[in-house]
Amino acid sequence: MTAKPKIIVTRRLPAAVEQALTERFDVELSRRDDATTAEDLQRALAHADGVLPTVTDKFTAEVLAAYPLRTRIIANFGVGYDNIDVAAARAHDIVVTNTPDVLTDATADLAMTLILMTLRRAGEGERELRSGNWTGWRPTHMIGTHVAGRTLGLVGMGRIARAVARRAHQGFGMRVLCYDPAPPSPVELAAVGAEPRATLESLLAESDIVSLHCPSLPSTRGLMNASRLAQMKPGSFLINTARGDVVDDDAVIAALTAGHLAGAGLDVFRNEPNFDRRYLDFQNVVLLPHLGSATRETREAMGMRALENLAAFFDGRPVPDRVA
Ligand code: DGY
Repeated sequence: MTAKPKIIVTRRLPAAVEQALTERFDVELSRRDDATTAEDLQRALAHADGVLPTVTDKFTAEVLAAYPLRTRIIANFGVGYDNIDVAAARAHDIVVTNTPDVLTDATADLAMTLILMTLRRAGEGERELRSGNWTGWRPTHMIGTHVAGRTLGLVGMGRIARAVARRAHQGFGMRVLCYDPAPPSPVELAAVGAEPRATLESLLAESDIVSLHCPSLPSTRGLMNASRLAQMKPGSFLINTARGDVVDDDAVIAALTAGHLAGAGLDVFRNEPNFDRRYLDFQNVVLLPHLGSATRETREAMGMRALENLAAFFDGRPVPDRVA
């Protein structure tokens, strides 16, 4: 009998996923469940045939230059894989996979949650109640912004953005615009009720709410900088469930301070969990701790998808979610 491939998992996973991994592989599970260091990742690369990391484990070119190197596949738990230098992985003959599709609905739901919470001042309202400062119903109390009829601009039009478009247009009566340098077909856009815009600038100028759905790439880092925020309508809202480094925090804070942005809903941050504490000063900013895919069903499905990528690789079958 041949030995089972050795897999190192960097964080705690849903119990069903840990169980399935244990049955299939010689697996080293994470018991500490704390953030990994470069040394932890290099140890994994030296001792495991496959590593199952999450989006917080940073496989930089330096980390991937580990010697000795035993790992042949990194099966990332997450659809985003900007935590992995894929060019360096390729150079070391390491296959990289992600977990698309299974988190689309959960993440789209969370983008809608942020849109609704931000426009309807839900975070602020809950804080008022919890602090004992609510004095009762009155017609002028904590007035928010009506969602139906507003124009939502989606930056990036992949699976998650299309799921947001469907919810916003068909569920909430919003007009939906989108910009993507590689847009989906007109048929796909029509199916979710979205109108394409040829430039990001025109999308920003027309939207009441801008929601970010692009990956973190050299071309998108700092995309929402001072000049792009200035192109947004005065009194508009910014929503980010993509990656923190797509926005320039100094520019967003300046736009909030000036009142140019009426609010923001943020689920992702540069340097998580050390988010920019200046956001705490704004009642009109809703802050969530990277919860996009955080439902039991989704996290289990993500784990099973990572497992299937590992299983296919070690069985010599085509690897379903190969990105490098
Ligand atoms: C991802 O998958 O990229 C999310 O950020 C975590 O679910």
